[in-house]
Amino acid sequence: MYKLIAFDAYGTLFDVYSMGQLAEVLYPGHGQAFALMWRDRQIEYTRLVTLSDPNPAGSKYYLPFWELTIRSLRYVCKRMNLQLTAENEKRLMDQYAKLTSFEDSLTVLKSIKERGISTAILSNGSREMLTTVVKSNGLHSYLDEVVTVEEVRLFKTAPQAYELLLKAFPVKREEILFVSSNAWDALAAKWFGFDVFWVNRLGHPYEEIGEQPNFEGDSLTRVLDVI
Ligand code: LAC
Repeated sequence: MYKLIAFDAYGTLFDVYSMGQLAEVLYPGHGQAFALMWRDRQIEYTRLVTLSDPNPAGSKYYLPFWELTIRSLRYVCKRMNLQLTAENEKRLMDQYAKLTSFEDSLTVLKSIKERGISTAILSNGSREMLTTVVKSNGLHSYLDEVVTVEEVRLFKTAPQAYELLLKAFPVKREEILFVSSNAWDALAAKWFGFDVFWVNRLGHPYEEIGEQPNFEGDSLTRVLDVI
C-alpha cells in the first residue's frame, strides 16, 4: 500500500517533446531532431555537473536547470547550424516555461488524492520554473509538495536527489511509488529503493542494465491500476 506517489516532471507530467512542434515552425525540417538533441544535451549537462563534483554539500558546478536548458538550446543550434536569434530563444524558452501537461496528468493526480494518498513532484527543475508550469496547468491543487533538487544542488540520478522525498514526507522508502517516463530516472529510483512505475508512451525498450521496473504502462492513467 503506497502512501506517496511521486512524479518526475519533464516528460512525465509535462510534454517536453511538444517543443519539437515549435522547433519545426522555427526551423522547418529539423523540429524532431532538434527537440531530441536539446533534451539529451540538457540531461547530459545535469550529469556533467553532478558527476564532476558529487559533493554531498552540492556540486560547485551547479547551475539551475532553467539555465542548463538555455545553454543546451544554444549548443544544439550551433551544432545543427541553426541561427538562434534572441527572438527565437525567447519563444522557445517561453513555451518551455509553460509546457502543457499530458491529457491525463490532472485527472490522475486528482484521483490519487481522492484515494487519500499523497502526491508530489520530484524534479531536476528549478523552483521557479516548476511553480510556473504547475500553476499554468492547474495542477497545484492536487500536489502536496513540489520537491526540487535545487536544495541539494545535485541532479538526479544522485541518491541525494531521491532522498529529498524521504525528507519531505514522513514515509518509508517502500511506501513510495516513483513514476517516471524516463527509463534512466525510473532505474535510478529503483536502485535507490523505491518501487517504480515506468510510463512508456512510445513503446521504447527499457534500459539494458539494472533491475526491471515494478510496473510499466503506456500512460499515466495506468498508474491508477496498481495503487
Ligand atoms: C525532471 C526531468 C529529469 O523533471 O525530467 O526531473
